[in-house]
Amino acid sequence: MKKGSVFTYSKRYTIFERSTLALLCQPKLSCFLHFFLFGVAQDSETPELRSCFLCLSYILQAMEHPGTQYAQKGKLPMDPAPRKPRILLAACGCVAAFKFAKICEIFCDWAEVKAVATPASLRFFNTASLPKNVYLYTDEHERLFWRKVGDKMLHIELCRWADLMVIAPLSANTLAKIAGGMCDNLLTCIVRAWDYNKPMLIALDVHTFMWRNPFTEKHLMSVDELGVNFIPGSDTMAEPSEIHSSVIGVLQSRPLPLN
Ligand SMILES: Cc1cc2nc3c(=O)[nH]c(=O)nc-3n(C[C@H](O)[C@H](O)[C@H](O)COP(=O)(O)O)c2cc1C
Repeated sequence: MKKGSVFTYSKRYTIFERSTLALLCQPKLSCFLHFFLFGVAQDSETPELRSCFLCLSYILQAMEHPGTQYAQKGKLPMDPAPRKPRILLAACGCVAAFKFAKICEIFCDWAEVKAVATPASLRFFNTASLPKNVYLYTDEHERLFWRKVGDKMLHIELCRWADLMVIAPLSANTLAKIAGGMCDNLLTCIVRAWDYNKPMLIALDVHTFMWRNPFTEKHLMSVDELGVNFIPGSDTMAEPSEIHSSVIGVLQSRPLPLN
């Protein structure tokens, strides 16, 4: 196929919108289009055009056959560079918050990381110790983010952005608030707006006296019902490496749709 004609097809197909694609997903038409686009892709002379047509053909396949290899994990097989997982890490006012920078660092190796800190947590760790590429959000950012009706809300935007959330360390106070559905700061607003189809993990850090208090079990049972994964620690909070392993374990059983 000549370059000129390929370019014509490219122009035509890049203006497809989702609704148009849905219409085209009548099984026979979709099948025909897939093989047509696949053929055009094979003949295309530039890598850009080839991947453009291949992507279109696989999008059609995925839409027509949800649940097949094309659609599984929300990932197209020809996707040249799937994006990194987006992990939201949060810290509460606990002694173990001094390990928060280490936790951020571990995840930065393979994920995009954003961090949230409660006002109480800020006295337990040095914000300057966080990795440079990790942006830290506090209640102050939530206040500045929204100025007038119609503006976006930071807690909602962070909920949308994240694929997975880890609260480590989680305080007895924030655990109680989550269990009761309270939302009076950035962190608890995110949790209150969270879509529990996406994984959330918690690593509690409480003094033994607090741990033994009957509220701990009650509150942990409530968050368990939400589908939150509890990361056990031997005495206080689990070690950063154990938190990391727990996240990997969850992701192995619930792969993220990185499209
Ligand atoms: C020195 C000190 C250490 C504390 N350590 C813990 C702790 O390890 N775990 C905990 O749940 N609360 C601890 N607290 C209490 C919390 O900081 C307090 O409940 C705070 O309101 C938690 O706020 P947050 O849940 O919004 O982060 C500690 C308080 C102080 C003063």
